[in-house]
Amino acid sequence: MQNSKWGSALIRVLFAGWIGVGIWACAVDRAPEIDYPETDLSAAPLIPKPLSIVPTHDAFGLDRHVAIYSGAADGDFAEVAGFLASQIEAGTGLRLPVDGENPDGIHRAIYFNRTASDGGAGYQLYITRDSVLINSPDAEGAFHAVQTLRQLIPQSANDTLADYPIWPLPTGKITDQTEFAYRGAMLDVARHFFPVADVKKYLDIMAYYKLNVLHLHLTDDQGWRIEIKSWPKLTAVGGSTEVGGGPGGFYTQEEYRDIVNYAAERFITIVPEVDMPGHTNAASVSYPFLNGNGKTPELYTGTRVGFSTFDTRKDTVYAFIDDVVREISALTPGPYFHIGGDESHVTEKDDYIYFVERVAPIVRKYGKQMIGWDEIATADLDSSSIAQFWADEENAREAVEKGMKVILSPARKAYLDMQYDSVSTYGLHWAAYIPVDSAYIWNPQEYAAGIEKDDILGIEAPLWSETIAELAELEYLAFPRLPGYAELGWTDPSLLSWEDYKLRLAAQAPYFKKMDIRYYPSARVPWPEDFPEPEPRD
Ligand code: ACM
Repeated sequence: MQNSKWGSALIRVLFAGWIGVGIWACAVDRAPEIDYPETDLSAAPLIPKPLSIVPTHDAFGLDRHVAIYSGAADGDFAEVAGFLASQIEAGTGLRLPVDGENPDGIHRAIYFNRTASDGGAGYQLYITRDSVLINSPDAEGAFHAVQTLRQLIPQSANDTLADYPIWPLPTGKITDQTEFAYRGAMLDVARHFFPVADVKKYLDIMAYYKLNVLHLHLTDDQGWRIEIKSWPKLTAVGGSTEVGGGPGGFYTQEEYRDIVNYAAERFITIVPEVDMPGHTNAASVSYPFLNGNGKTPELYTGTRVGFSTFDTRKDTVYAFIDDVVREISALTPGPYFHIGGDESHVTEKDDYIYFVERVAPIVRKYGKQMIGWDEIATADLDSSSIAQFWADEENAREAVEKGMKVILSPARKAYLDMQYDSVSTYGLHWAAYIPVDSAYIWNPQEYAAGIEKDDILGIEAPLWSETIAELAELEYLAFPRLPGYAELGWTDPSLLSWEDYKLRLAAQAPYFKKMDIRYYPSARVPWPEDFPEPEPRD
């Protein structure tokens, strides 16, 4: 280590106004003077839009002379730094050293720094000509800063500035924090099964847009998709088909754990849903005692809803549910267990309420907070349960009166399976047609009278899979709408503007292409003219 070099780097940092933050020893050679083209950080097409951006109109050259420093002793920051390095390598081919000892040829650095304040997933990102500094009180906030940084990396290098490729990042300061703690998406893997690789791809894209909850709708009339070791026929029988009569499938416990871990590496919480007491045909085909009507039902591959129910007055049904909640909770580190509870049309009202009130303590016993679709608010629940508002605003208000938090997924705005318009290839329209602008133009904090910001845990965009069997079909419905929900969950509503957002959304086309996302090229978005639309499906 050469002290003079280290000293001059430190002085530059102090002059930049970062007094009081921890900076780590590293070797920084003199950077060649490069005349960067004009850059403007405030023009960067970031989604979700950050709270504050102050541009300084210079550039940081991301190139082979950059090193990453995680702040040493912090294991969780080191993991985030490693994630950044792997993403930079995937996007640019650059293999930047992380916490290297005195690496040769280093001119500039990206530093992580743990700050003392409690920021709840927030961060500051300072980009100067010489360094990038990520300030955050926690690894989650640092991870969010990394997503912002990734979005600032140009799709292609500038090869004219030096005799090696440089990806110039615009300089300035970003201060950012989330509006809602819960920023979710849901995949229905029950109506059609989607394998682990598809879920991982969805998680990758979610992380890029700072979504932090993936709700998996694991069971429904048409299929049971999670291995339960104490009740093996659930998957052997109940997982054997899907809508349209395809082969179905299920996640082994090992595969489910793999999803959970992959999500956790991206600061995404998995919420498992076992939908009950309705939507349970696949369970009752596997174990006919569950429905209590003395009949063995048949596997169901249609798309009707509301015809199945558990026998809510039978103790053995609750012994079964106890096993299911216990096994899934043991595999799920996140705080939530979703019991469904929607559309139990053939369950008597009294029986429904009795059921929800009996399942709530089972969920609590296994250390989880109960979430259910908004109908659960009709039961006598305490304030620890959470209602997911999808259809009935009265139910959501009833939840709020009980002190429960609400997740906003109003079908008319937030259902990703609603068709864009009457000629959309996939999707349904029982709630609404939801074009890309309509999906974005609403304020969750003002959506329902009597449901205020403090009542709202967050928002979630569910994607039901009655009409989609393949990943490309799933992507057609989810994209380009999903990034809009990410922004509604993250960004201060005073900063939301469709006119501004649609330009930033259009600028995602190269990312969508890089990720091979078969998005719907809505004419309401001014996509780059020279950019190919995704290939239609075969
Ligand atoms: C739902 O769409 N049945 C929650």
